[in-house]
Amino acid sequence: MPTNRERIEELRALRAQSRLGGGLERIEQQHARGKLTARERLDLLLDPDSFVEMDAFVMHRSSDFGLAEHRILTDGVVTGHGTIDGRTVFVFSQDFTVFGGSLSEAHAEKICKIMDLAMKVGAPVVGLNDSGGARIQEGVVSLGAYADIFLRNTLASGVVPQLSLILGPCAGGAVYSPAITDVTIMVEGTSYMFVTGPDVVRTVTHEEVDREQLGGATTHTTVSGVAHLAAPDEAEAISLARRILGYLPQNNMESPPRVACADPIDRRDAALDSIVPDSPNQPYDMREVIRHVVDDGEFLELQPGWAANIIVGWARLGGRSVGIVAQQPSVLAGALDIDASDKGARFVRTCDAFNVPLLTFVDVPGFLPGVAQEHGGIIRHGAKLLYAYAEATVPKVAVITRKAYGGAYDVMSSKHIRGDINLAWPSAEIAVMGVEGAVNIIFRDEIAAAADPASERRRLTDEYTARFANPYIAANRGYVDDVIEPSDTRPRVVGAFELLATKRDRNPPKKHGNIPL
Ligand code: HXC
Repeated sequence: MPTNRERIEELRALRAQSRLGGGLERIEQQHARGKLTARERLDLLLDPDSFVEMDAFVMHRSSDFGLAEHRILTDGVVTGHGTIDGRTVFVFSQDFTVFGGSLSEAHAEKICKIMDLAMKVGAPVVGLNDSGGARIQEGVVSLGAYADIFLRNTLASGVVPQLSLILGPCAGGAVYSPAITDVTIMVEGTSYMFVTGPDVVRTVTHEEVDREQLGGATTHTTVSGVAHLAAPDEAEAISLARRILGYLPQNNMESPPRVACADPIDRRDAALDSIVPDSPNQPYDMREVIRHVVDDGEFLELQPGWAANIIVGWARLGGRSVGIVAQQPSVLAGALDIDASDKGARFVRTCDAFNVPLLTFVDVPGFLPGVAQEHGGIIRHGAKLLYAYAEATVPKVAVITRKAYGGAYDVMSSKHIRGDINLAWPSAEIAVMGVEGAVNIIFRDEIAAAADPASERRRLTDEYTARFANPYIAANRGYVDDVIEPSDTRPRVVGAFELLATKRDRNPPKKHGNIPL
């Protein structure tokens, strides 16, 4: 009969073995690849000493292909919960040193267990992905196990925040778990995501492409829009995840945390008075506007390198989280195209799902014209952004800095689709379309018949500009609540969100809407 002392020693030995994962040699290989281990990553992610591990003694139950002799404690994923800035978070961290982090039935059960608990408790889930995909020896069982995770990702969507960090391979159907989560962060050089790898691509389409080009961090943050952020190393990626959670509530029943704010809420900022150039066709950087308005100029932008004609990200105003959506006039003149519509719509819905108020800066000449856009379905994609804004019930404040033309005026958080407080700068031009286009259409005959068509066009353009290229026609009708001096923007929007803090609004009861996907 073993003594109690011996039993405790056995537990300690097993735990030590479990912590070693695939063993020292594989840990060294992991480090040699420039990657941290599953546990080192959790140490960086969570508050010191807050991690409570679950299922450290789980092993797979398979016996095919020699697996019976090859069982490793944890089965390739470290799971549990801890805190980030004192707030509970559930985590899973795939361990590449154990079967290449591949996903078995037991591995998936561990992930599902913490996801189920997260849903009951109402706390975020952060997944650290580093896996060779389905455990090949387990065959269809591991496919079913993936689907068990996908189902939970879907059911948890909009209930608790879900973040994915891609810290190694993430291939095949495995990519669909991160794809369903709210934010995906990749690491440059060591992570990749694709549905089929370079070999399959070569066989099927005869295209030559390497992993990095096909699905590396740069590709997914500049070309596909699959990932929201790329970091130069794992520590930076993990730190971004911590920051992001700081803007979000624990679940959809709570408000985002409010933090102390040292930046005076009544700070007027004279620099804003001269950011918009006098000429309406000259670009400026909308990020400057955002920085001058938000608390301490701090803005966490998502997807900065993809669809850069729209800016999305989180900041704080008077210590409260806000989601910011803004046109970027220095890219495509801020026009809305397919990718910008998708990017904006997804972000608006992320904020609305988690009770983060929306601040919109509008400078939009319209939807981007062109055959590629029309054939690519700009109607369908643009409708997503319209739908997302119309459906959102969080406080919505908009500031029109310059152009708000055509359908894009309606879409960008207008009063007509339940914008709560809509402000305009004196430089705002709120009209059906740009001056040149409008004059060419409505005065076509007059210009053609004039003795000097060029000077007649100039005269009519000046007349149209004086009449319509301003905020006052919209303000006359109450479509904007006020025209403000740009330097007053911070106090006005902070005040607006303060006012709207108790806002209540709801959508009609339904199973779910049918957003044009
Ligand atoms: C079982 C796996 C594995 C897997 C890796 N390993 N992937 N074991 N199932 N899917 C094992 C390797 O055999 C190896 O074990 C160890 O993990 C490390 O792998 P290496 O190949 O030595 O590492 P590396 O050279 O870095 O290559 C990493 C890799 C490669 C690119 C991920 O291992 C790879 O291509 N794996 C297979 C990927 C794949 O096709 N997965 C299935 C995709 S389909 P030993 O003991 O030899 O060191 C899929 C469907 C999901 O995932 C569908 C959901 C709906």
